[in-house]
Parts: sequence; C-alpha cells; structure tokens
Amino acid sequence: MINHLDKISGKKILVTGGLGFIGHNLVKTLVNQYNCSVIVVDNCVNSDPSILGDDLNKINFQKISVLETEKLFPLFVDVNFIFHLACKQISASGKDPLDDMRVNAESTLLILEFIKNNKLANLERFVYTSSCSVYGSAASLPVTENDATIVLSNYAATKLLGENYTLIYNRSYGLPTSSVRYSNVYGYGQSPRNPYCGVLGKFIHNALINETLNIFGDGEQTRDYTFITDAVDATILAATHPKALGDVFNVGTGVETSVNKLAEIINNYTKNIKIENVPERDIDNIRRRSIGVEKIHQILGWSPKVNVRKGIEETLNWYKTTL
Ligand SMILES: NC(=O)c1ccc[n+]([C@@H]2O[C@H](COP(=O)([O-])OP(=O)(O)OC[C@H]3O[C@@H](n4cnc5c(N)ncnc54)[C@H](O)[C@@H]3O)[C@@H](O)[C@H]2O)c1
Repeated sequence: MINHLDKISGKKILVTGGLGFIGHNLVKTLVNQYNCSVIVVDNCVNSDPSILGDDLNKINFQKISVLETEKLFPLFVDVNFIFHLACKQISASGKDPLDDMRVNAESTLLILEFIKNNKLANLERFVYTSSCSVYGSAASLPVTENDATIVLSNYAATKLLGENYTLIYNRSYGLPTSSVRYSNVYGYGQSPRNPYCGVLGKFIHNALINETLNIFGDGEQTRDYTFITDAVDATILAATHPKALGDVFNVGTGVETSVNKLAEIINNYTKNIKIENVPERDIDNIRRRSIGVEKIHQILGWSPKVNVRKGIEETLNWYKTTL
C-alpha cells in the first residue's frame, strides 16, 4: 500500500503562520521526520521564533506578513507545497473585522491569484487550513462536509471565504489546491501566554500551576478535540494524496466532549483543580459540536489515532517538562 505521507519527504515547503500552534508542529514534523526544506512566513503577531527551539536553525524564517506580497511571492519560486496557516484567531476576529478579512481571506485570494498568473513549475499543492466553525450550530451531529454551513462569527465567515476561494481556483483554473477543516486542535506547544490559546491548553497549564480553570457558562457545551499529531498527519495527507485535490476534509474525531468532562479528566491526573464558572463570551454561541470524519477516512485513509484521554495525558506530560 502506498504511504502518501512519505511523499512529502525531502520536498521544499513554505508554511505561512509557521510559528503558530499548529504551524510550528507541522514545521517540526516536516523538518525532523520528513527531511524537508522549509520556509516559514510569520509576522509574529501571535507567536515567537523561540517556539521552534533548535529547529529554528534548520529552517528559513521570514518575519513578514502574508499581506506583504512583494516580499512573500518571490519565496514561492521553487516550492513544492504551500501550507497556508496564518490567521486571525476567532476571539480576535470580531474586534478587528477588516484585519480578520485581510488575513484569513484576502491573503488567500492574493496567493491564489499569484499562482494562477505565474508559472510555478514545481508547485504540487496549496493547502488552506479552514475551520469546523463554518458549520455553526448544526442541526444534527456529527456534521459532515455535505451539511450546510451556518456562519456565526466573523472568523467563520472569513475562513469559509478563504476556503471557497481555494476550491474555486481549483474548479475554475485547475490550480492544485485542497482544504482541511480542523476541529479544536490541542497538544504540544499551545502557549498559555497566547490570549487565543484553546481551552485545553489553558486548562492544563492552569491546573499544573494550581490556578483556577475558568469555565464559560455551565460547562456542558461540547466540542470535538483533535490531537495535534493527528491534525498534522491529516494536513500532510491533504497535500500529498492525489484524491485530496480540489476537495475539503473535516479533521476531527467524531466524539463530543463537554468542557466539564475535560476538567474532570485533567483532575484525574493533577487532583484538586480549582474551577470557576464565568459568563459566556459572544463567541460562545455554539452549544454542541462533533465532526464526521468518514470522508477523510474513506478517501485519504486517515483516522484519528489519539483519543482525548490519551491526548490530555500526553499534553500534561509535555507541559510538565516545559513549564
Ligand atoms: N487551533 C485550532 O483548533 C484550529 C481550529 C480550526 C482552524 N484552525 C486554523 O488552523 C490554522 C492554524 O491555527 P493555529 O491554532 O496554529 O493558530 P495560531 O494563532 O497559533 O497561529 C497563527 C500564526 O499566524 C501568524 N500570523 C497572524 N497574522 C499573520 C500575518 N498577517 N502574516 C503572517 N503571519 C501571521 C501568527 O503570528 C501565528 O504564529 C489557522 O488557519 C486557523 O484558522 C485552527
């Protein structure tokens, strides 16, 4: 059987947002596991190069914005794959909607236009990283790629726009593109100092330093938590698998976990955690979420390997050695 992941080995790759949570894990995997030559583009609004540790010496880091196209586009010349992960995070998107639109959608359109208008002989795939937030409050769970999108935040609107541009440039102009829709990714290297850090990163960090875990609302809201190594594998497969071309794939687990349950699992490991229920934010408008992963399983042969208990244990161990 062909191992489609291995097809990335030795390739020349550009990762936007490559210092972010998912981005730096992807970069580390590409460099250390697949011996790739990697250019990282990140303006550090939400990250720091030190996140890559010694691996910083193994990559070509460009501190630029994805909107600085005159500096960005020359970097595309001979790359084989572009992974577009630079983003305005959900909790910041409503406060600065124009910047949200520019970073999440306009940058994508600019890149696709450049690819369309210039012969990039070596480019094998452009991968856009979208979000399951595009499903909003779906009527039935788990949501599949065939379900309607119901955008409930600026972020969801602009991620869907970026994703649609990515698909259109394949359908209309034959560009080699694909997209993934992640669901609540967590794991190694999620900085708790980052104000946009996901709930699990914050909970685990606070539990380990004996600080209060703030639960927005009653804690019975659910999400589908995807471990970082699974998300990285799915992203690479979306780039290398021939059947991912021109398509979009959910990346999740199909399992719903409430915020209260997360706190309970963490408490099994750390004991005596302190919890406080605080009022919900305006972005807390989705009550339940689980993500169908049948399509990515059937077409790309991917399924999640790490369940939420194991993933929390791995993340706790990582924080213990890093804090
Ligand atoms: N983490 C999740 O659970 C999740 C869920 C759904 C979708 N996503 C998507 O996955 C991708 C990566 O998410 P993440 O969690 O790693 O986010 P992150 O915020 O940790 O990383 C984003 C990176 O982009 C950089 N950036 C922001 N604006 C930029 C600009 N104008 N130019 C260059 N760099 C810029 C930031 O400095 C940061 O390093 C994003 O596209 C996001 O929408 C993530």
